[in-house]
Amino acid sequence: MHWWQTGIIYQIYPRSFQDSNADGVGDLNGIIGRLDYLKSLNIDAIWISPIFPSPMHDFGYDVADYCDIHPLFGTLADFDRLLAEAHARGLRVILDLVPNHTSDEHAWFVESRSSRDNPKRDYYLWRDPAPGDGPPETRPPNNWQTHFGGDAWTYDAHTGQFYMHQFHRSQPELNYRHSEVLPAMLDNMRFWLDRGVDGFRVDVIWLMLKDEQFRDEPPNPHAALDARPFDRIQHIYTAGVEGIHGIIRQMRAVLDEYDERMMVGEIYLPVEQLVTYYGDGDECHMPFNFQLIQLPWDARAIGDYIRKYEGALPPGGWPNWVLGNHDQHRIATRVGQAQARVAQMLLLTLRGTPTCYYGDEIGMEDVPIPFEQCMDPAALQQPDLFEVWGRDPERTPMQWDASPNAGFTAAGVTPWLPLAADYVARNVAGQESDSTSLLNLYRSLAALRRAEPALNRGAYEEVDFGVADVFAYRRTQPESNGFLILLNFGSQTHEIDLAAYNVTGEIALSTHPDRAGRNVTRAYLLAPYEGVVIRLRRG
Ligand code: NOJ
Repeated sequence: MHWWQTGIIYQIYPRSFQDSNADGVGDLNGIIGRLDYLKSLNIDAIWISPIFPSPMHDFGYDVADYCDIHPLFGTLADFDRLLAEAHARGLRVILDLVPNHTSDEHAWFVESRSSRDNPKRDYYLWRDPAPGDGPPETRPPNNWQTHFGGDAWTYDAHTGQFYMHQFHRSQPELNYRHSEVLPAMLDNMRFWLDRGVDGFRVDVIWLMLKDEQFRDEPPNPHAALDARPFDRIQHIYTAGVEGIHGIIRQMRAVLDEYDERMMVGEIYLPVEQLVTYYGDGDECHMPFNFQLIQLPWDARAIGDYIRKYEGALPPGGWPNWVLGNHDQHRIATRVGQAQARVAQMLLLTLRGTPTCYYGDEIGMEDVPIPFEQCMDPAALQQPDLFEVWGRDPERTPMQWDASPNAGFTAAGVTPWLPLAADYVARNVAGQESDSTSLLNLYRSLAALRRAEPALNRGAYEEVDFGVADVFAYRRTQPESNGFLILLNFGSQTHEIDLAAYNVTGEIALSTHPDRAGRNVTRAYLLAPYEGVVIRLRRG
């Protein structure tokens, strides 16, 4: 087994984790100062969202230089120190690779837009205006749309053509049909791998190739009447385009030049398509599985999906699970605080690598941010829908303690995004000293997972007790009696008839901590919103 299979990945959004120089934005030295905390969570790897030079129109997902560190975050020397300090604590470091697009301030794009015959012109996707009347800037080459709202084309008056972008207009997309682009990106990967990073989370990896003929995307017959223009078309010429797997295989081959490095791909696709990104064990080590974010929070729906996902995995394909990230509303906001405990128990006891989002271990919630204070381009471009699509609420500063600015930055400094109103009551320091806190439950779950092969590598077996709100499964491993996990998604108490299933055991962990250690024999009264991990006994 590899570290990225048995381990837990923890995502750090670096702007919001820990500020060390009182500018209101988190940085690398801040992360270094919190490594002991990270270690105490019993996680195995940190994934750090982009830290490279960037004009920050999309908060670092607009990279101006792939081989350096943004001064806001520190220097390359700081990064090397972070890597060494993390490794010294047994923590791996995963960086965010953003190969689909660069910033419009990247040297390649500056050259590309300078003239039509510049050697870098075709590093990007330039097209003439569509034929027709009216000023050229009103005639985009086709109907492609951006994820942030609006046409996927921006007119550049200097050379009289449009360039393509599926996100912000400052994020022009690279042309992976140009023979020099992929080799250049692979060299960017080697730059970090040579420094010792343990892997990459690859941004929108399934979008990297576009239709060679730039055809219009067809209407989406399933779109709601009030759907955004982006959702009214089917993305068959901008996503999962033929040839993409060959590109991913070449990226994977670079990782395989090194020992024990990994690549997890950001891919939002239905399961049948998602699993094709494992290739024959020669593409992504893991394509992210976002279904715990996308499914309704319902025991049956989740159980059904797990069955489908487990059944769809290719031979050797290792599963993974994600509860939240910097693009999605916080789990505690989506399901409430009581279910957030159940959710962590689910994440940390399923078969497959868990990825946790910073702050979820203390139940941080979305912070409502009025439109006037929005920073996120996805919100600014869709003012009518900013509450749905805006991503600032889940990106607010980490709540470390009850001091002014929650220990995130110095008192008196204005953090780049506002702190949660509840930070005095909900913070790391407060939860450390409360044995019943989510933080301590999280640590115990992660420790149990690490200690028990049945949990970190064992098989998954669905168990049906016939109660709609209760999701149950067993994790087994030869030489061990395994664990039975019972999760109550509802507000009713349920008597679980363990005798029928012929098991007895002891509660190793419960979301209701006073129940831990109890013997479980014939029946168990599962409290509302309770989750338990039962260590099974033989016979
Ligand atoms: C996905 C990233 O997670 C998101 O934050 C970003 O805006 C887009 N890709 C564009 O890079």
